[in-house]
Amino acid sequence: MGSNVTFRSKIGLVAATVGSAVGLGNIWRFPAETQANGGAAFLLIYILCVAVLGLPLMLGEFAIGRAAGSDPISDYKRLSPGSRWWMIGITGILAAYVILCFYTVVAGWTLEYLVDSVSGSLYAATVAGGAEPYKVIMEQNITSDLKPVIFSIILILANGAILLGGVQKGIERISNLMMPLLFLLLLVFCVASLTMPGAGAGMKFFLTPDFSKVTASTVINAMGQAFFSLSLGMGVLMTYSAYFPKDTRLGKTSVIVAGCDMLVAIMMGVIIFPAIMTFGLEGETFEGASLVFVTMPEIFAHMPMPQLWSTLFFLLLLVAALTSTISISEVAVRFLQDRFKMTRRKAVILVMLPLFLLSPICSLANGSLSDIQLFGLTIFGMMDFFATNILLPLGALLMALYYIFAAPKGLLRNELTNNGLIKAPYAALVEMLIKWVAPVLILIIFVCTFIKF
Ligand code: TRP
Repeated sequence: MGSNVTFRSKIGLVAATVGSAVGLGNIWRFPAETQANGGAAFLLIYILCVAVLGLPLMLGEFAIGRAAGSDPISDYKRLSPGSRWWMIGITGILAAYVILCFYTVVAGWTLEYLVDSVSGSLYAATVAGGAEPYKVIMEQNITSDLKPVIFSIILILANGAILLGGVQKGIERISNLMMPLLFLLLLVFCVASLTMPGAGAGMKFFLTPDFSKVTASTVINAMGQAFFSLSLGMGVLMTYSAYFPKDTRLGKTSVIVAGCDMLVAIMMGVIIFPAIMTFGLEGETFEGASLVFVTMPEIFAHMPMPQLWSTLFFLLLLVAALTSTISISEVAVRFLQDRFKMTRRKAVILVMLPLFLLSPICSLANGSLSDIQLFGLTIFGMMDFFATNILLPLGALLMALYYIFAAPKGLLRNELTNNGLIKAPYAALVEMLIKWVAPVLILIIFVCTFIKF
């Protein structure tokens, strides 16, 4: 079954999967949500969402992926031949493409900021800029027509080059290299932040739950964050688990991946809150990208050696974004390879080609094309909304329905126990959460999202 490629080592397998999970979601969305939703109150709700919804759904994807060993569409075809359940996989491949379009644009911005940090031009401008130089700089950078397009194209090329290397020599090797670097950088920033004068006040803000800020939408946001951050609902985990060897312990792997993902989110909290308290930036709200592209440069400008800190930070961001982009693209690459028997080379080129057109359109949606709007969202905003709030939960919901109605008997238990070789006393609980709790919660998210919209 499947292509017989597997990750070479357990460490590599974990590094690649953690690389997929840890991305822009942890670095800018998590601190922003935490700030807006009552500090530790949000953190607690988020931890609950990961435990009740995230882990079971991750295991659900792992089980299907490893049992069938292919891409999201072929997986369902193999497990339930003759049925139409394979159509679930379409939402996955579609979501992958939509996410790739805007994710490569944002990753392009991080590359641009990295280059401007290294050259020092980001900090030279402080003198020239007005009261809020970084806001102005960000607006200029994002809304310009040419620069962001060039940087996102460089990123797509890098992404393609890594994918061409294959599962072991491309994805696994780069993850083995980048994940330790990412944790090292995070650690350096944590130490720096905790030794600032505002560390106490910052940690107090981060770790004191303010339940008065918790509303229904807090819970919905926490669930959405869990989906996006754990790379759920799109077949990324299914695709990667197809490369897991048969003796990989899925339960243990899922806990390590979700744990590392959570750790990075918490470390970002530890980095951000002391720093903003130290420099009196707590009044700022971090709408979308402004946390990393406005507040962070502002913090660095206050510190000795801004260029160095800024370079390290945007390098960290780029590493996180790149390992996630790779995982998203791999879904479509795997699909072309398995479904149309293409060589890896051809599949990678075919997946990357449309991006050279679509990603620039997405980028221009913040510039020349910003007048094209629907429901008050630009093309960029629409793609983000459509993929994150509709396609991801939909993919997960359909997978839960598959488990209820069609999955081969014992699929989950067999995979969790490696066909009876190890114990997995939690299998029944996981199955119950996938079949009964997840669909109800996801339906609630859907209804609330539509009401909000
Ligand atoms: N999890 C990544 C982040 O936190 C983004 C990501 C990678 C993703 N693969 C995904 C999101 C699949 C949704 C689905 O930034």
